Amino acid sequence: MKPRILVAREVFPEVLEHLRPHFEVDDNQADVILGVDGLKRRLADKAGVMTAVSDPVNAEVIAAAPHLKAVCNFAVGYNNIDLAACTRAGIMATNTPGVLDDTTADLAWALLMATARHIQTSEHWLRAGHWKGFRMMDWLGTDVHHATLGILGMGRIGQAVARRALGFDMRVIYHNRSRLPAEKEAACRATWVDKETLLREADFLVLLLPYSPASHHIIGAAELALMKPTAHLINVARGGIVDDAALISALRQRRLSGAALDVFEGEPALNPGFLELDNVTLTPHIGSSSRATRLAMAMTAANNLIAALSGQRPPNLVNTEVWK
Ligand code: GLV
Repeated sequence: MKPRILVAREVFPEVLEHLRPHFEVDDNQADVILGVDGLKRRLADKAGVMTAVSDPVNAEVIAAAPHLKAVCNFAVGYNNIDLAACTRAGIMATNTPGVLDDTTADLAWALLMATARHIQTSEHWLRAGHWKGFRMMDWLGTDVHHATLGILGMGRIGQAVARRALGFDMRVIYHNRSRLPAEKEAACRATWVDKETLLREADFLVLLLPYSPASHHIIGAAELALMKPTAHLINVARGGIVDDAALISALRQRRLSGAALDVFEGEPALNPGFLELDNVTLTPHIGSSSRATRLAMAMTAANNLIAALSGQRPPNLVNTEVWK
């Protein structure tokens, strides 16, 4: 008998075809959000699960899944998974690093350009019929070329964002717990600075660090107060890294020129304050959402699951201590 697995969200049909020779697959092509109760119910008889960032694999879910051996997230971030609870239960957890770096870096740039040049707000204004003709003083934006790009969190995606700055002749500064080796800094033309310098000097600050208790509200009122009033904040990492209420207050008072956000605290719920502002661009967590990349992510998660349940070490094991 093949092991039973759950694919917790809708995926491309070819991913299910890839899994079916190996497993009895319980899919969710209707894409119902299962939540804690749904996951507990559907995982009671499963050996493995493919999850998305919207699936809370917490201690309660794990306790209700006595046969579970592997949780394979189709995301690079895995803050939806209680890793310690997985490890205690001997369950392997995996993610999908690498395959989404360029696509996510592209979206960071799309948002950067959008907030710099009022793309969203001016389009909405045009569509609403307000445009009466060319005016010298309409929609004055911020130059991207020759500006200072600041990156907080300089992993693979941060470096991909930095490399793209070369074509805009930007100065690139970054802050990360550990400094990059000299050759990587040279490839990105990026200079390490302390966090306060990053906040004070960036014209565009892009956040690219994982969410954890240590990064919760790492950008709050005090940090926003250090930024230039002409600066823009771009978050394509995770909600909760930014204190959304503090950001709304800074944007409302024009203590910050603009922001562009793909992720939110408590998403998909949105702080309603964002909707009243004309200096924020909002997208619904689409950082990795190109067809090719979402397919590559799902296939990576599927291959992790196949390896994990056939006694091999999954290529993207996160809690390596469970591997004996
Ligand atoms: C998406 O948010 C991811 O972590 O891959």
